[in-house]
Amino acid sequence: LFPNDDEENDRLDLYHHIQTLSLGGKLHLAPIGENPQRILDIGTGTGIWAIDMGDKYPSAEVLGNDISPIQPSLVPPNVKFEVDDIENEWVYAQPFDYIHSRYLACALRDWPRLMQQMYKYGLSMDVDPEPV
Ligand SMILES: C[S@@+](CC[C@H](N)C(=O)[O-])C[C@H]1O[C@@H](n2cnc3c(N)ncnc32)[C@H](O)[C@@H]1O
Repeated sequence: LFPNDDEENDRLDLYHHIQTLSLGGKLHLAPIGENPQRILDIGTGTGIWAIDMGDKYPSAEVLGNDISPIQPSLVPPNVKFEVDDIENEWVYAQPFDYIHSRYLACALRDWPRLMQQMYKYGLSMDVDPEPV
């Protein structure tokens, strides 16, 4: 629904800062412990959340994916980005300790299927665990 030009990317980064401020400086609320190992950020956008998570949790391998390759190449060594369509079948060899999804409300056709894939590959999420 939205463009992926510089103006939009600046808007996304600004909203990241607003969101972080509104959470009192936290990047997440889920109880993922001090040493999470595998973190996935779906529809990562500019990748700013994934990069901040990589800085905060050096123990973790942070993967951000997006259908649009707008993420920077200069990132912490534990952060990677992939071009992927999250509405396709997910094929990860291992589950994730935390799967993060933010501001995707207008982006997806099939939310129940996405939630099924998140539950299949995720162990802890920032969403109500009751079925939707
Ligand atoms: C509003 S932005 C949110 C970016 C980021 N999650 C954040 O919080 O700043 C929505 C993002 O979803 C991506 N997107 C839309 N459909 C997608 C799909 N099917 N698979 C992967 N990414 C998708 C867009 O390219 C865009 O970067």
